[in-house]
Amino acid sequence: AHTHNILLFPGDGIGPEVMAEAVKILNHVASLASVSASHQFHFRSELIGGCSIDEHGKSVTPEVLSIARDWADAVLFAAVGGPKWDSQRRGLDGPEGGLLQVRRALDIYANLRPCAADTPSPSISREFSPFKRDVIEGVDFVVVRENCGGAYFGKKIEDADYAMDEWGYSTAEIQRVTRIAAQLALRHNPPWPVISLDKANVLASSRLWRKVFEQTMQTEFPQVQYMNQLADSASLILAINPRKLNGVLLADNTFGDMISDQAGSIVGTLGVLPSASLNTLPGLPLDAGKKQKALYEPTHGSAPDIAGKNIANPTAMILCVALMFRYSFDMEKEAKQIEDAVRNVLEAGVRTGDLRGTATTKEFGDAVVAELEKIAS
Ligand code: NAD
Ligand code: IPM
Ligand code: MN
Repeated sequence: AHTHNILLFPGDGIGPEVMAEAVKILNHVASLASVSASHQFHFRSELIGGCSIDEHGKSVTPEVLSIARDWADAVLFAAVGGPKWDSQRRGLDGPEGGLLQVRRALDIYANLRPCAADTPSPSISREFSPFKRDVIEGVDFVVVRENCGGAYFGKKIEDADYAMDEWGYSTAEIQRVTRIAAQLALRHNPPWPVISLDKANVLASSRLWRKVFEQTMQTEFPQVQYMNQLADSASLILAINPRKLNGVLLADNTFGDMISDQAGSIVGTLGVLPSASLNTLPGLPLDAGKKQKALYEPTHGSAPDIAGKNIANPTAMILCVALMFRYSFDMEKEAKQIEDAVRNVLEAGVRTGDLRGTATTKEFGDAVVAELEKIAS
């Protein structure tokens, strides 16, 4: 049997509450006869973020980073941060720094953030998106955000009167994330176009980005259409004619961060969008000595305003489990089953308070398990 080591990072705020539901779903799928015959899952849970600062004085310890690097095949991350730690220095030392350090330690340089008008269920965007129905109908794209470079990880100066974040990219960094974007495009039939966002009219790093992107697409992926789009006008297009962006939206760390949050407006809520950070895709060769690594996290934060009340929406976290089956373990059937179960439960009206429902976090998770039992039988 294949063994899969999964590191859990519940983190802060609503993190532990939504993580518990994701683990419930994972355990249920793992116990299915068809799965347990060939897959074994091992878990361990570690501290990250504010809770790690309280315990160890650091947002993540070197020991935990080694567990992520050497033991884990996949990481499930819930959320970090909260008002308790707001006064502490941010960057790599604040609660969010724990997440940034893990991304960097695992070198998971491609952050996939899918967004579609009918995901997780068609009625959610219909009821919650601020956009007109005919504007968002048929919207279907995935943001591929460069996750380990750019302004997030460049040199920093933080003096009293001057601060700087170096925003740089190398050819190799641009090439490798372009390859993931193009390979994802090729998984669709016909291949999706790849649309790269940059500010080549202003930024030197964007000019190299555009040049390397175009060269890589032309020489390695002649069968995939590609386009460049200035990142600022991409924001406008996303609001006015978002179907124009259907395909793979490739962006650097900063532009990718912004466009993926903006994508939340298509669906109308943050509580339902999962994401995957990867260093490869199933079926692609890895450099010698490299292992497949991945981290899955919801797009939302730790929601301190509703923490501890059993009312947080676990949908995004549960859908992270589906992405983990798809991208880490090549278990497409199980991934689909989870996505179908979540869709059916939402369509049936079992919803948490953020979606104007009355279900608790636990009740939502239980409803997904019950639906999975129906689907799998
Ligand atoms: P947030 O996403 O935590 O919350 C924004 C709003 O959405 C809040 O009203 C919250 O109640 C609601 N919300 C978010 N997730 C929800 C869910 N699953 N179910 C129901 N409602 C949900 O963003 P914020 O308030 O800007 O940040 C709070 C803290 O989280 C900050 O410390 C921030 O730095 C941190 N943060 C962490 C991550 C992460 O861990 N990846 C991401 C973003 C923000
Ligand atoms: C995200 C978050 C993180 C980021 C923060 C919490 C470090 O906003 O995953 O998009 O900026 O990358
Ligand atoms: Mn973000």
